[in-house]
Amino acid sequence: MFSAIAPRYDFLNRLLSAGRDRTWRRAAVATTALSGHGTLLDVCTGTADMALEAARQFPDARIVGVDFSRRMVFLGTAKIERARLEERVRLQVASAETLPFADDSFDAVTVAFGLRNIPDRLRGLREMRRVARPGGCAVVLEFTTPLHPMFRWVYLWYFHRILPKIGRFVSGHPAAYSYLPASVSDFPSPQGLADWMQEAGFSEVSYRLLTGGIVAIHVGVK
Ligand SMILES: C[S@@+](CC[C@H](N)C(=O)[O-])C[C@H]1O[C@@H](n2cnc3c(N)ncnc32)[C@H](O)[C@@H]1O
Repeated sequence: MFSAIAPRYDFLNRLLSAGRDRTWRRAAVATTALSGHGTLLDVCTGTADMALEAARQFPDARIVGVDFSRRMVFLGTAKIERARLEERVRLQVASAETLPFADDSFDAVTVAFGLRNIPDRLRGLREMRRVARPGGCAVVLEFTTPLHPMFRWVYLWYFHRILPKIGRFVSGHPAAYSYLPASVSDFPSPQGLADWMQEAGFSEVSYRLLTGGIVAIHVGVK
């Protein structure tokens, strides 16, 4: 499914979020507070928007992105080359459930709109913790559902009724943008995700909500 929508993925992100997705990634990357020549792994990197944002915010950092969709990795690599960042940013095909890196390899590990899609999410979080160095952090950017009753009503109407139609029309994929709201409904609350992160072994877990509670940024320390 992700390979099928890859060519229209960036365009639809901008369109369906009215450009907010960039702000959300920017905030999530800043949360890592990476310093100097730090190393960052972006899991489920897709077309590398998080990896590129990290390269912009941390000009001396080295960044690796992994995704199991070859087509996403191909398109992401092309963007990295266009930005002339291939010296510092590289992508590879890999599963989030079995990351091909040694323990304690990265100063920060991020995942944006990816954890929801991993079949065994706790295993994905444990893998993120395994490859983070002691004292390093993991940052999770993910959709959640607004709590304010009026905003929640409007948002759910858009998310369940309008977004799937636009997504289907633009991407040409019959199900991908119906899967999106369905998978968000199926995902735990921000507190539930914080509990999972603790279960995966992270400490000092905290989160904050953005854009009226449409998305949450969680952070935990190894
Ligand atoms: C919604 S996209 C998010 C992409 C990117 N992080 C972003 O912010 O736009 C989810 C990505 O996760 C990838 N993905 C889903 N499950 C995965 C898994 N088990 N292992 C690796 N990548 C996975 C998909 O191929 C897709 O590119």
